[in-house]
Amino acid sequence: MKIFFILVPLFAVAFGDLAKFTKCPRTSDDICEVTEVRINPCKEGRYCRLVKGEETSIEFDFIPKFNATNLTTGLYWASVRRDVPFRDFPESDACAYTGCPTSAGTKQQFTYSTRISENLPTGRWTFKWQLWSADDKTKMCCFKTEVSLAV
Ligand SMILES: *[C@@H]1O[C@H](CO)[C@@H](O)[C@H](O)[C@H]1NC(C)=O
Ligand SMILES: *[C@@H]1O[C@H](CO)[C@@H](O)[C@H](O)[C@H]1NC(C)=O
Repeated sequence: MKIFFILVPLFAVAFGDLAKFTKCPRTSDDICEVTEVRINPCKEGRYCRLVKGEETSIEFDFIPKFNATNLTTGLYWASVRRDVPFRDFPESDACAYTGCPTSAGTKQQFTYSTRISENLPTGRWTFKWQLWSADDKTKMCCFKTEVSLAV
């Protein structure tokens, strides 16, 4: 019983910024599995409320099922018709945010910190994060998460 009471506060800290996410329809866990997404601050649980002008950090864990020397990443405003690239974080060399090269089956962490620009529209949006082998865009990790941008 004692162990139980000690563990609870530890878990509360470790998982305080866990964000809900969904897998992208056209990607498969056989190619890349995203296991956890953490957004800070993210106190509301269901979706994260990010305040413009303030710092935020986004981390996710993924297990690529492919080997790749280099990785490329991109962030998009998800939309039914067409995803719109996120201007403040265009297609980039992902090796700056996670270890390269990747080896199949090894879990890695991707970490990105930024200041939320005041120019972004207020409201609730779904963002899509993609990460792929620089040599082969079919080798892709992808998830979607809902975020609220607030003044
Ligand atoms: C990844 O590379 C390792 C070591 O070279 C190899 O054994 C493995 O079969 C490769 N896996 C894939 C999915 O290409
Ligand atoms: C990987 O990226 C580095 C740095 O951008 C570049 O110098 C290198 O040529 C790339 N390697 C491959 C195999 O694309």
